[in-house]
Amino acid sequence: MKDIYILGIESSCDETSFSIVKNGVEEISTVISTQIDIHKQYGGVVPEIASRAHIKNITFVLDECLSEANMTIDDITAIAVTYGPGLIGSLLVGVECAKTLAYLYKKPLIPVHHIAGHIYANNLVKRLEFPLIALVISGGHTELIYMEKDYSFKKLGSTLDDAVGECYDKVAKVLNIEYPGGPKIDKLASLGKNTYELPIPLNDDSYNFSFSGLKSAVINLVHNEEQRGNLINKENLACSFQDVVIKSLTKKTMKALKDYNVHNLILAGGVAANSGIRNKFTELCEENNINYTFPSIKYATDNAAMIATAGFYAYLDGKRADITLNATSSCELE
Ligand code: KG4
Ligand code: ZN
Repeated sequence: MKDIYILGIESSCDETSFSIVKNGVEEISTVISTQIDIHKQYGGVVPEIASRAHIKNITFVLDECLSEANMTIDDITAIAVTYGPGLIGSLLVGVECAKTLAYLYKKPLIPVHHIAGHIYANNLVKRLEFPLIALVISGGHTELIYMEKDYSFKKLGSTLDDAVGECYDKVAKVLNIEYPGGPKIDKLASLGKNTYELPIPLNDDSYNFSFSGLKSAVINLVHNEEQRGNLINKENLACSFQDVVIKSLTKKTMKALKDYNVHNLILAGGVAANSGIRNKFTELCEENNINYTFPSIKYATDNAAMIATAGFYAYLDGKRADITLNATSSCELE
């Protein structure tokens, strides 16, 4: 088979990124321009500022990606772009760029769902093995997905309210920790002990999750302690919070693996960078003879390498878009 080079484009939130991946497995070059420094002064991503920054950055990031690869668009087989879900203004910048390139250079255009990208970040670590269960844990998503084969997604359950990453960021905020709080809570948790009692949310037999109650419990606990003039032990609170998150995620995921008789697990999304979550899943998978793959830390959070990789399998699956492709802030994984 002739080599297939996919140019991936990701701009769904606050990262402008381009990547070229060969045959779905070999990363040629990836450039990520993050806006974290711009948004952290506001305590979170400001959509209007994010889309303006994407417009400012996008051509430079594309140029850098091509020059790092020592390639031109003529060498590219097809263009894959995140069309949703995400911030609409941010998504539109990537989608318009992809459509323009596809039209000008007469290349196939492949629409990629952002979560498919997060799932396929694992394919850059190790070729996915099926059937598998993917636990998707990011700033906007918490989902359990069953995949029988490449590019086939069946949702088993999802969060009924907040996403787990959002919960990490809100807990960080009440502790006066800068955005994005997830990595800092992870670090604090590793230094603390589980001393604060917090409720395990939606502790039932479904595959669904809930994090808004846990978020409120932490916020109320901090406010109550402050009103009483008590100091919060941030390390211990982070550890207690993270332990509850881990209990909820592992219980539902291990149940899904057992119920579906699946022996392959992958983690996906920004929160998959969490060391406590990785350690516990490693332990449980080894105990239960489950093969597991985690995305590299660098590609757990948003990047275009995952979009180019997913784009390769979407391309093989026959997924195509034309000049009418539109960005969408919410859409089902397909
Ligand atoms: O996947 P991602 O880059 O964006 C979305 O698609 O939502 O995920 C970003 C989220 C943020 O909420 C961030 O705090 C969280 O991932 N995150 C972490 C860690 N690294 C990133 N959460 C917990 N522990 C981490 N080490
Ligand atoms: Zn993401």
